[in-house]
Amino acid sequence: MNSDSNKKAHAVLRQSSLPPPQQPKTHSSVNRTDNTTDTPLSSLEKISEFWAEKAESLLDWSEKWSTTMAGDVANFDVRWFEGGRLNVAYNCLDRNLVNGRRNKAALIWQGDKDEDSRVYTYQMLFREVCRFANVLKKRGIRRGDRVVIYMPMIPEFAIAMLACARIGATHSVVFAGFSAKSLQDRIQDCEAKLLVTADNIVRTGRVLPLKDNVDKALGHCPSISGCIVVRRVGMDVGMLDGRDYWYHLEMQSADISDDCEPEVMEANDPLFILYTSGSTGSPKGVVHSTGGYLLYALYTCRKVFDLNDDDIHWCTADLGWITGHSYLLYGPLGLGATSLMFEGTPSYPGPDRYWQIVEKYRVSIIYTAPTVIRALMRYGTEPVDIHDLSSLRLLGSVGEPISPEVWHWYHGVVGRGSIPLIDTWWQTETGGIMIAPLHDETRLKPGSVVKPLPGIDAVVLNEDGEEVSQGERGRLVIRNPWPGLFIGIFMDRECHASHKLNVFKGGYDTGDGACCDEDGYFWITGRGDDVINVSGHRLGTAEIEAALGSHPAVAEAAVVGVFHPIKGQAVYAYIRLQENFSETEALFAELCNHVRLQIGPIATPDMLQCVSGLPKTRSGKLMRRVLKKIAADDFDNFGDTSALANPSIIDTLIASKKALSAE
Ligand code: WTA
Repeated sequence: MNSDSNKKAHAVLRQSSLPPPQQPKTHSSVNRTDNTTDTPLSSLEKISEFWAEKAESLLDWSEKWSTTMAGDVANFDVRWFEGGRLNVAYNCLDRNLVNGRRNKAALIWQGDKDEDSRVYTYQMLFREVCRFANVLKKRGIRRGDRVVIYMPMIPEFAIAMLACARIGATHSVVFAGFSAKSLQDRIQDCEAKLLVTADNIVRTGRVLPLKDNVDKALGHCPSISGCIVVRRVGMDVGMLDGRDYWYHLEMQSADISDDCEPEVMEANDPLFILYTSGSTGSPKGVVHSTGGYLLYALYTCRKVFDLNDDDIHWCTADLGWITGHSYLLYGPLGLGATSLMFEGTPSYPGPDRYWQIVEKYRVSIIYTAPTVIRALMRYGTEPVDIHDLSSLRLLGSVGEPISPEVWHWYHGVVGRGSIPLIDTWWQTETGGIMIAPLHDETRLKPGSVVKPLPGIDAVVLNEDGEEVSQGERGRLVIRNPWPGLFIGIFMDRECHASHKLNVFKGGYDTGDGACCDEDGYFWITGRGDDVINVSGHRLGTAEIEAALGSHPAVAEAAVVGVFHPIKGQAVYAYIRLQENFSETEALFAELCNHVRLQIGPIATPDMLQCVSGLPKTRSGKLMRRVLKKIAADDFDNFGDTSALANPSIIDTLIASKKALSAE
């Protein structure tokens, strides 16, 4: 787009503004005020109308769309708001400068140390984002280019994401816990031009390396022409002349101005790529759109959290995951709310850290993962009881099933039994929350994610594609498209959509199992595919197997998830060693370290079992359910194993597992 039309579009953008900030509501009086119902929308026309109305009321467009929902609906190859134009950073920042929120806190940052904190008003954040957007441009980044962000949880992380959105560059965030090799693979896959990172990470009072990882990765990334480094710690790190630039020096440079016109994007232009694990050996780059994604992030924030001006919203997820993207950054800022960002960990310097932060900032909504609650439950109720948590009005949970025991603790101890606990089910691919109670739900059931949000048609199907009966397990399938659905897997600049998603009997197959009870409430029963969930982090067993298999000592590896009291699931690896290697503790430690280097600490196996062979069918397919049962010390009823090429392997594996457990 040339700069004249750009200016014109910006002028249009500037004219529109949000309605004035709403008055604080008393939550007992809030009910579902929009024109939605709990029943699925009955026709494609109704679906279009429903989302068109949301898009009008929640977003500012510089040009209205011509078609709300276009494309091949049966195959979920849908383009939302075709012809519509908007800018995400404009919607998250600029419009909040003219609606009374200019001086409101947009982002409150709490560092690892309590005395490290910063507050950005909308005006301040706007300025930083514009300046950094100009830095990106100066370093050659243009609309459509990919920028990888590999950062600790510091404000510059959010600034970098919004700056990309402002100039139409596609960001791809790589969680800072991933290894140099994982970073390298992702940069190579999306052919990123630039990397934004930091010198070090600060965590639990310690300094951990980050730029070192970057240097290892960038040696193999010819697409990268520049690397911008935030000085978080100030220790010496290597800076390569002509490639590496300090963030603070770039931002101070005299040629960097405070003005940066937002690039006017098509609704279906990519906003970001986020790599996530599936059942293949390498993670896939899920691409989300500009218009549909943003709308869905805002819509769900409104519906589920009822975010309002007087809220302090604390999503504890790292910005490296989809939860951070949708509920720390885009959703809250798009609604003009105040979002809290925390650099540290739940139990440093003490096990009351989260509750101390809630008290300090008078947090009203906390959105976290069951793994965090399980870890904090171990310390008993005292760390919670010593803090005044009366500001909380809503508790949220995401990322993995929350057991009734954990649910009761979170609800009873943290929520004093008096505020709703909202368990939210969704995925990287869905862009935002799909099944959850609404903020004013009066009837919650511990362990149930309640019902699909208005506009979402979720069903549980059996293998024949029929809806299962009450209490029966089946596949969780979404029958109609919605705007938050990803637009493709990154293949090339056009992100070819044909490879995008699994369609099962005309619906989007989520990969999760579920069942419904007599009230139509949904209960998630876990993944039906080879994806495991460790501390709320999604990992492909094939990825870990590939990492183990790349070590010279390993002839073959098979990985399954096994119950873990804190992490939810732990990584259990079966290893067949090459002939000239033997099972020693030193080798096991080396294999664990190898996985850390290949993927990152989150994928480190908790248990390794050396085996002489693996249970495989005559066609060579691994019978993973046998391995899952043995890992769980469940040695009965292996079901039909007649397809096994080597049935005696089961007894051999059981014997070696028993020997291992006895050690
Ligand atoms: C699991 C995270 C049970 C599920 C937002 C899903 C859940 C995967 C819940 C997606 C929940 C997420 N109850 N399981 N409330 N929320 N999951 O892509 O298996 O990192 O498919 O997105 O996490 O993980 P992802």
